[in-house]
Amino acid sequence: MTDRYAVIGNPVSHSKSPQIHKMFAEQTGQDISYEAILAPLDGFAETVEQLRKEGFKGCNVTVPFKFEAFGIAKHHLTDRAKGAQAVNTLKFEGGTIDGDNTDGAGLVCDIQKNHKFFLKERRVLLMGAGGAAYGVVLPLLGAGAKLTVVNRTPSKAQQLFQTFATQGDITATTYEELKSSKQQFNMLINATSSGLSDDDPPDLRGTILAENGMAYEMVYSRETKFRRFANDNHMKISDGLGMLVEQAAESFFIWRGVRPETAPVITALRLS
Ligand code: ATR
Repeated sequence: MTDRYAVIGNPVSHSKSPQIHKMFAEQTGQDISYEAILAPLDGFAETVEQLRKEGFKGCNVTVPFKFEAFGIAKHHLTDRAKGAQAVNTLKFEGGTIDGDNTDGAGLVCDIQKNHKFFLKERRVLLMGAGGAAYGVVLPLLGAGAKLTVVNRTPSKAQQLFQTFATQGDITATTYEELKSSKQQFNMLINATSSGLSDDDPPDLRGTILAENGMAYEMVYSRETKFRRFANDNHMKISDGLGMLVEQAAESFFIWRGVRPETAPVITALRLS
């Protein structure tokens, strides 16, 4: 019998997850279906309950429901979901709902496996202190990165730093400090939501990236001003498409116990 999965969001029609999981299923011979489900903004918990009743085996959760999903799975969370304080993958097992967060693992896998950029001992500047940033801190520290977090509202960067201070090599700074110093990083990660709007990106020196460094923009759906900044300053830059596919592969593995090949899926999406 075909096992059913879905991504729940609002909005959700733009989601590439159904396309990605369909390709994973074909490639691995897994008998699953995967659909996009729009939940009302005040109806996430009811939507999850409905899916469970209908016999779905699990779902991905996207904006704006990742925090609510964390609450729903609060008794069955992985450490990385606890670290992220958000859940993007739910697995329905018997009477329980297990919650995990594969976003950070997806980012680290894309950077290290696909881009061959190894994070151990590398100085990484993480821009932003919202949900996207929290989601990736533990996996970055786990990979051995030396993390500096910076945020437009400095108190939130401080708060993020305090949350993870005992978990690895992490510090916090301000954009002003970065501008006035000569500090350089091996990797810049834009985890702000500036790329989703036409807002200006974080204000950085064009010389902030060390030689052979790499800039990473988590947004994959559009050409962002941060990408333009990186290009203008001759930085190697990646968008977040690989992260999207890798986090999906990790969810697929959680549900099916099978790890799909991601490279052909990333290539197919780039061509589509
Ligand atoms: P997400 O879930 O995408 O992380 P969020 O939780 O609303 O969304 O967080 C957005 C993050 O992007 C915040 O850290 C925000 O900075 P503030 O805390 O100061 O609001 C950051 N951000 C958004 N637009 C930005 C911009 N134009 N420049 C710098 N930082 C920006």
